[in-house]
Amino acid sequence: MRFQHHTIGERFVASKSTAAYSAADTHTLLGALDALGGVRGLDTLDLACGYGYNTRLLARGGARRAVGVDTSEEMIRLARAHGVIGADDVATLEGAVGPAGTPAPVGAGGSADGGETADGGETADGGETADGGTAAAAGGAAPRDGAPAPAASIEYVVADAAKLPQMGPFDLATAVYLFNYATDRSALHAMFRSIRANLRDGGRLLAIVPNAGAFPQVDWSPYGVRIVDRVHEGDAPLLKAQFLTQPSVDFEFREWAHADFAEAAVEAGFSTVGWQPNRTPPADGARDEAYWTAYRAWPISSLMTCTA
Ligand SMILES: C[S@@+](CC[C@H](N)C(=O)[O-])C[C@H]1O[C@@H](n2cnc3c(N)ncnc32)[C@H](O)[C@@H]1O
Repeated sequence: MRFQHHTIGERFVASKSTAAYSAADTHTLLGALDALGGVRGLDTLDLACGYGYNTRLLARGGARRAVGVDTSEEMIRLARAHGVIGADDVATLEGAVGPAGTPAPVGAGGSADGGETADGGETADGGETADGGTAAAAGGAAPRDGAPAPAASIEYVVADAAKLPQMGPFDLATAVYLFNYATDRSALHAMFRSIRANLRDGGRLLAIVPNAGAFPQVDWSPYGVRIVDRVHEGDAPLLKAQFLTQPSVDFEFREWAHADFAEAAVEAGFSTVGWQPNRTPPADGARDEAYWTAYRAWPISSLMTCTA
């Protein structure tokens, strides 16, 4: 399975900052983090961090620690080159702070816009969704008291999420498009176990995971990704896809069912597993309400929330 880091790096950066599906994922993640009370004072881990977009989001949100992990040395090199605030970092968490504890610029993509909260999600097991939680509930976080938090230092580590060293404990882990790179069931379960082992009891895992079953009925081309083929092999079908950058970039990932992710989380010792549909940013001149309504009918991904 290929995520072609050596050729994809800068073009993935382009896709991340312009593709609509990615804007929706960021909006979804921000909503969930804000609903948890933000990340100020938390020890946070960003898995499959790529070039560090979400790691920087956590750091700017006032996390005490923000650690990004990726298997790709090239992506980690790009992440380190971006510092704490990258040029294309527009999304901002509520209560975010800049590098020296100053208020961070609030950009267009964040849910600090007074948008809806991340409530109303369904749960796979009757467990809680990401709403209603507090930062403290996420495992010993500092309360939000209005005082500026010092900006976190960011650490980056080249490692396989299925074989993480002990780096924590952490209060919160994010994993935006990690689990779909698990090549087989044993790797998928190892990822969840490895993450659980690095979280404090009561800590949270927020993961953006692909929705299965859309190909070939659904065309996500207007949103920045195209699935071109499905190959039945191994524990989960292999999807062949393209990021629709100029030029496009081929990549492959596994089409796990949400039930596979939930099973792996429970087996790893997570006590609750919840699901929320993807949220979309406010309509604007470039992407109107009809555009986002069509996307919400069958979005690329969902938010999975697990409690350690
Ligand atoms: C589509 S990118 C997402 C990057 C980032 N989460 C974001 O949203 O910008 C997927 C990333 O997963 C990384 N990855 C794939 N398998 C991994 C593994 N087993 N452990 C850690 N990272 C992995 C890849 O190197 C790549 O950077």
